[in-house]
Amino acid sequence: MPRSIIKVKGTMLLSDNRPAIARAASIIRGGGLVAFPTETVYGLGASAVDAKAINKIFVAKGRPADNPLIVHIAHVSQLEKVACNIPEKAFLLAEKFWPGALSLILQRSALIPPEVSAGLHTVAVRMPDHRAALDLVALSGVPVAAPSANRSGRPSPTSYSHVLADLTGRIDAVIKSDDCLIGVESTVLDITDQVPVILRPGGVTREALEQALNCKVLVSKPGGIGGTPVSPGMKYRHYSPEAALILLTGSEERRRKLSDIMISYYRRKGLSVGVLNTFNRGCSGNQIRADQLAYRLYRDLRRMDAAKVDLIIAEETVVSGLGLAVMNRLRKASDRIIRIF
Ligand code: TXA
Ligand code: MG
Repeated sequence: MPRSIIKVKGTMLLSDNRPAIARAASIIRGGGLVAFPTETVYGLGASAVDAKAINKIFVAKGRPADNPLIVHIAHVSQLEKVACNIPEKAFLLAEKFWPGALSLILQRSALIPPEVSAGLHTVAVRMPDHRAALDLVALSGVPVAAPSANRSGRPSPTSYSHVLADLTGRIDAVIKSDDCLIGVESTVLDITDQVPVILRPGGVTREALEQALNCKVLVSKPGGIGGTPVSPGMKYRHYSPEAALILLTGSEERRRKLSDIMISYYRRKGLSVGVLNTFNRGCSGNQIRADQLAYRLYRDLRRMDAAKVDLIIAEETVVSGLGLAVMNRLRKASDRIIRIF
């Protein structure tokens, strides 16, 4: 091993240059686990054609076995290897949004072992918009299955330091690169039926999908259809900081007043209170842009955990554009949602 490579408790810290990525690719080919940057969040990759390697992902993350993984490809030509009976709209969406933050649910091909999809007959596929990620997948020579590179239930990692905090000693290597530009995960879109359904809102907006497909796109409710979650990952309390999180929704003016009252009440009681601002305090009607909120969401939650905050107060934001993904994560992270009329 070159002396320049740092290893902490068995986890190698690699840079994002080509030789280091080639090394990471050989770890993937050999059945190991490598965390790598994408434009959304850091992923924890393993060969998507190696059931043993896939099982290691579930162990390293402490991930429930019924939560399927996303398969990452480096070129559209790989799509026909990992999926079958691909509808025309998949190619249209790939053309428009790949590389990018869109995962398509398609029928799984025989190349992909059932472990990747937690036994489902479908598979989620995406081509990430990040040079290091694309190089890693291309040099590995196999599609790469990767969930977010966090311990299960923790906020997703948007910087390599978050990955190290959660997974040092549990995985073979981390590719150290810049912070993720989008900050929330990809949109998971089910196109196995006539009507496209967003199973998880994310980096590609519903509006952009509707425009590209020229049809209505549904958004599945958190509880799924008839109580059965269509995307298994959606049933777990997710993205959670260690502190309790209270989400305030409803009338903007009253919500802000209540937020101020709560902050000073809990602080007087001696609790350390963190505030996740969705608007610029003091400037009425001045919403923070949804892309900025998305960029900051997980890093702010992790920063507050590091500061040992007891309670986090967050306010709702608009549910259009990236705001839909931000609100989805906030709802899933919260211990309590207070609606004010
Ligand atoms: O941006 C992202 O999507 C990141 C980066 C690393 O690509 N990955 C990510 O993976 O967020 P993960 O495992 O944390 O979330 C995958 C989501 C889960 O909600 C899972 O249930 C859903 O996608 N999913 C995966 N395969 C599925 C399938 N066949 N059917 C329905 N939902 C699926
Ligand atoms: Mg995840």
